[in-house]
Amino acid sequence: VPHLLDVSWFTESMSSGRPVNVEPRHNLKNALEILARSAFFQESDVRYLGFTRAASTLKALPYKLQSVNQAKDLPWCGGHCMIVIQEILEHGMCREVEVIKNNEHYQTMELLTGIYGVGVRTAQRWFKEGIRNLSDLKTMECKLTAEQVSGLRHCKDLQQQVTLEEAERVGQLVKDTLQRFVPDVHITMTGGFRRGKEVGHDVDFLITHPNENALSGLLEDAVGWLETQGLLLYHHLKKRKPALRSASSSMDSHETCYAIVALPSSSSPWNTDIEVKKCNSEDAERIAHPESPNSLNSRTWKAVRVDLVVTPQAEHAYALLGWTGSKHFERELRRYSLREKKLSLNSHGLYDLEKSCFLPAQTEEEIFLHLGLQYLPPSDRNA
Ligand code: GTP
Ligand code: MN
Ligand code: MN
Repeated sequence: VPHLLDVSWFTESMSSGRPVNVEPRHNLKNALEILARSAFFQESDVRYLGFTRAASTLKALPYKLQSVNQAKDLPWCGGHCMIVIQEILEHGMCREVEVIKNNEHYQTMELLTGIYGVGVRTAQRWFKEGIRNLSDLKTMECKLTAEQVSGLRHCKDLQQQVTLEEAERVGQLVKDTLQRFVPDVHITMTGGFRRGKEVGHDVDFLITHPNENALSGLLEDAVGWLETQGLLLYHHLKKRKPALRSASSSMDSHETCYAIVALPSSSSPWNTDIEVKKCNSEDAERIAHPESPNSLNSRTWKAVRVDLVVTPQAEHAYALLGWTGSKHFERELRRYSLREKKLSLNSHGLYDLEKSCFLPAQTEEEIFLHLGLQYLPPSDRNA
């Protein structure tokens, strides 16, 4: 059995932080995103939001920004952002961004927060304790959560993007698994793939059924079955907390399973129609004990992050809107809803603060109507 945190395979390019490709002139958005992440790592919410909004504005522009003049009237692009935009347009690069990219704190935070289960607070603490790379993490194995241990163990796979083709195979696996227990279960792929993205960092699913009782215990059953097949590398089940469905809470309380699955490769014998059961014990062993030295070069699976969210039918539209993202779109939509309409939006419902009641909706279109906004299809929510 290899050491739990054996990271010898970790490549140099990864230990120096994620490659950031800044091509002068064309990467204004990139520069602003680096500034946003840097602010995020310093837990400066105001600056984080400012840079994120500016980056989002540039992303939505139907043309390439050529001059400072063009940028003057763009929303969120004033002040500090304008200085950055001007510098890049005039000199091809921004000094502040270059300094950040070479900064040890920034690079380490990029590396550490890139591990599943590691947030800014944790990475910050580790940085203060002197952790600079993944090998350093070995020294503190006992202090890691189960989630972080899995994140570290599979980080090579998890840092690779999930392709649409892989997402569809995950979808088939999820569908086949859930249908074993509830044949007419409704499953929707949400997140970035629903917004039409070609790649993602995970695959998100929303699960519902007209009869709420059919959903009870479904995730446990699914997890149990995937485990017996050796296809589950990590999971964390979060129970539904009905009390949290309050008017103002932005906290999510859906029953959720955060998982890492071993996705069999498309050429492997246990693909598509879930012939997983037919895999022999040697295969099962290899799946159950990933990263064992013999399997490194002949692996027939890839670790993929999967989020499974269960919602009663009555909340489905809200959960769909909430889990389709993007994060920035959701944040701005909730802010608009509260400020402009006195309506508190979360992924369970919409609460009218003046009338003190929930506004029901069966579809996303109805939610946009409640908010007095024109309907935006998922592909227009890539803010
Ligand atoms: P990639 O996975 O990187 O392709 O992007 P994504 O847009 O799919 O991001 P992610 O999977 O992180 O989240 C998808 C959507 O679900 C985003 O809009 C998030 O705001 C939302 N989301 C993620 N985690 C939670 C959560 O724990 N609770 C709630 N309510 N929403 C969440
Ligand atoms: Mn996602
Ligand atoms: Mn997700």
